[in-house]
Amino acid sequence: MSKISISKKTAWSLILKINSKISCKNNLVNINEDIRGHKINITYNKINDHIENSNLSDDHEISDLLKIFLPIVCSSKKTQFIAHIAQSLDGFIATNSGESKYISSKENLEHIHRLRAISDIIIVGANTFHEDKPKLTTRLVEGENPKIYVFDPKRILKSNQISNNIKIISDKDVMRNKFSKYKTIYIEGGGKTISYFMEKNILDRIHVCLCPVILGGGRSSFIQNKNISINNLKSYDPKHYNMGNDVLFDLKV
Ligand SMILES: NC(=O)c1ccc[n+]([C@@H]2O[C@H](COP(=O)([O-])OP(=O)(O)OC[C@H]3O[C@@H](n4cnc5c(N)ncnc54)[C@H](OP(=O)(O)O)[C@@H]3O)[C@@H](O)[C@H]2O)c1
Repeated sequence: MSKISISKKTAWSLILKINSKISCKNNLVNINEDIRGHKINITYNKINDHIENSNLSDDHEISDLLKIFLPIVCSSKKTQFIAHIAQSLDGFIATNSGESKYISSKENLEHIHRLRAISDIIIVGANTFHEDKPKLTTRLVEGENPKIYVFDPKRILKSNQISNNIKIISDKDVMRNKFSKYKTIYIEGGGKTISYFMEKNILDRIHVCLCPVILGGGRSSFIQNKNISINNLKSYDPKHYNMGNDVLFDLKV
């Protein structure tokens, strides 16, 4: 098979197309797509999460993009929950006063926008929504903005703080599985929200971006309410990818 070179933009358009159009029912996914005049052929094995064959020439950036996103867009799950959090080397996502813009690199920020673009909905915690006033758009990459849900079990947000297109959800809504009609649900933090979904065993995948800064204190990324024993810790087998100077750990939960 003769090899072709494609740009990151073309690779991303391919991922969006797989996400919206290509059926991934079989364990071997055959991707044959014409994107911007490039005829791209990839055989992706979902079981061992491996690209068996491809006509793409070696390019580290393209290969990482495919390795990160093929398992997500080709998932057999009817509904999948993916979380992302960027944390300092010492495990904090923001200072005590709530400043977090931006702990991670511009490359990771672009990655966050990609996660938004392949998701049907995005869930963000009420503290984050209140303090950061995030736009939660896909402005850095191709792709549509997801619907926005704010996790606000304590009802701290006032109705005039929320526009009509944003929905408020509580812990009860989460447990009632209000989201079964969606394919991909992306939880963008903060730490309390991600920890809630993790404790309830709802998450399928977590992206932890480790950033080379030390905060020495602040808001935690993961919060455990129960006592844990070192001998019973769950051990992960993460894949990792460079995001500028940061390292992204991709954990299948
Ligand atoms: N670095 C990153 O990737 C990143 C991403 C997003 C946000 N952030 C930062 O994270 C900070 C906010 O995060 P956060 O962890 O404080 O809050 P959060 O996840 O944004 O908000 C969670 C909300 O749910 C409430 N809650 C009630 N019961 C809960 C339960 N059982 N489990 C979980 N939440 C429950 C919390 O109330 P209580 O607070 O009263 O418990 C809070 O109102 C901000 O400073 C923001 O800048 C960083």
